[in-house]
Amino acid sequence: MKRTTLLLFIFSVATLLSQAKTYPATAGGKAISRELWGIFFEDINYAGDGGLYAEMVQNHSFEYSLAEHEGWGPTTAWRFVKPGHSAGDVTVNMDRPLHPNNPHYVTLEAEVVGLFRGDSPLHGVGLQNAGFDGMSLKAGERYNVSLWARGRMPLVVALLDGKGKPLGSDTIRVDNDGWQQYTTHFTCDTTVTDGQLAVLAVERGRVDLDMISLFPQHTYKERPNGLRADMMEALRSLHPRFMRFPGGCLVHGPGLKHMYNWKNGIGPVETRKSQPNCWEYHNTMGLGYYEYFLMCEDLRCKPVPVIHAGVTCQGDAKGWNIPGTGQHSLTEAEMRVYVQDILDMIEWATGSADSRWGRLRAEAGHPEPFQLEYIAIGNEENVTDSLVRNLTMLYQAIHSRYPAITVIGTCGYTANGKSHDRGWALTRELGMKVVDEHYFQRPDWFIKNQHRYDSYDRTGPQVYFGEYATKDCRLINALAEAVYMTGLERNGDIVRMASYAPLFGKRDHCQWNPNLIYFDNERLCPTPSYYVQQLFSTHAGDYYYGDVIQVEGDVPTLGRSCVFDSQSGDVILKLANADSVTVQVRADLSRFKHMGKTAQVITLTGTPDAQNTFDDARIRPQESTMKVTRSLSIELPPHTLQVIRITRKAASH
Ligand code: AHR
Repeated sequence: MKRTTLLLFIFSVATLLSQAKTYPATAGGKAISRELWGIFFEDINYAGDGGLYAEMVQNHSFEYSLAEHEGWGPTTAWRFVKPGHSAGDVTVNMDRPLHPNNPHYVTLEAEVVGLFRGDSPLHGVGLQNAGFDGMSLKAGERYNVSLWARGRMPLVVALLDGKGKPLGSDTIRVDNDGWQQYTTHFTCDTTVTDGQLAVLAVERGRVDLDMISLFPQHTYKERPNGLRADMMEALRSLHPRFMRFPGGCLVHGPGLKHMYNWKNGIGPVETRKSQPNCWEYHNTMGLGYYEYFLMCEDLRCKPVPVIHAGVTCQGDAKGWNIPGTGQHSLTEAEMRVYVQDILDMIEWATGSADSRWGRLRAEAGHPEPFQLEYIAIGNEENVTDSLVRNLTMLYQAIHSRYPAITVIGTCGYTANGKSHDRGWALTRELGMKVVDEHYFQRPDWFIKNQHRYDSYDRTGPQVYFGEYATKDCRLINALAEAVYMTGLERNGDIVRMASYAPLFGKRDHCQWNPNLIYFDNERLCPTPSYYVQQLFSTHAGDYYYGDVIQVEGDVPTLGRSCVFDSQSGDVILKLANADSVTVQVRADLSRFKHMGKTAQVITLTGTPDAQNTFDDARIRPQESTMKVTRSLSIELPPHTLQVIRITRKAASH
């Protein structure tokens, strides 16, 4: 073995051993879930297309339709242009498409090209796309263009600023009787927020075009067809243990014909079948199951795919191909087909590279199986007879074939009530281990109900608190969530997982508020709730101690928890004060040995109504230190979350 290989081997073994090392918990605590804090990604509020999915061209495959959004059609977001006094036409066509899943394309017909060029820097007959609210192009960054074309035609492909001034251009010579992919790239020398992409036919004749795409080279981990790096970094800083995806209501889809179909989101992007999104926009499916599973690997978290339970949303009021409103079900025969689809999904994710579905994953670039420990069935449905039948069919098929997968049940969209109770009963009857609760309430409700899980039956099923938020983005909302989250830690033996909802909201394009992180094409605006999630997740533990923190008097607005993290050996206190008075707290740390002399103190504080904006993220954690004593006395200011991390003393040699 070469010396460098040997050193690398020794280093890898040492790293693995140090990662595997854990510290024993001091007596008196109880074990709690190691995967309590996760995230929930749904393509709502343009979180995916137009957001995390880094494709900059809007309607890149000309598949927008009137059925998705009033006034939309195949050329939405495109402008027909004829610079330099050119003449010609553009038509939308469907004969001999690039792929049957992607039936529309455009034909450019150039009759006269650049007759009087005048001052026009460009000439030709073509199309211009301003992305989602203008393209944000940065000086020094490389951008990759790809398009599919058929015919014989030189095409000028150009990046433009908002006034039409070219920032870079290239000529692509299309010369093919069939569809062919062409690529080029640009490095921008100017930063603009209102960039556009133009594609121009510059000789007399005609050419067919489809899948016109522009991606920054710099996506997260530089992945092609990748994700916006800044948004992924914001998620990485949350240190999630799992990610629930792709919805939410998105999984029911708008009506029976448009329920989410994972098979539409795998394979080469040009062969994927786009889907109308129930939030009234378009999903290209460029961000599909393959990308979601990769995303989980990149975030080092467990994937939790949510599959629909064969029923549409009870709130399906849009009349998408179904008369009236309400929850509609697949028939039993349709359910049998759907159940097989889900078994195929599991084989696709976890099967060997020579299995029928695993082969497709391998061909996409991932020969080794993805990790898949969880599948959640259903999202907030009314627990009706048809839901019970469908969920039972799905559960039994998955469980009998893949008993190692933990299947998560569903129980409506409220904290209690008929569907809640029936969903719990069904979970128990079927022997499922976890059930997904959702509720959105005001801050005072969360504070008042912080002991909700104290009385839950410890024999299970366990809870996945899959969607929650306190309905606004002020500091007081974040603090109420923090108070409640100390209750989730206290009950971490029965509450296995929790995720705030929704995760992302695009500025001026939100169908739902509040969201954990707002964003536009350039920037992110993390809410105070984001920092609460981050503080809990990055300072999580796996043992809970209920008698360490004492408070003077009865303070119902206070949340408190003490956990031990066996990986680092650190003791962590969390104190959430949602009231306007200072609270005196004492922490008796005498049972913990090996404490360092100084603790790291992270504080999130401000006025209760304070909010972050894109220009002023005033509510963010501040760090300080504190001297550690066996009996800590803490004066907790009003409207404050404080995390006190007592680092384990380094071993003396
Ligand atoms: O989180 C936003 C929406 O709220 C989800 O789509 C749905 O599950 C819930 O009602």
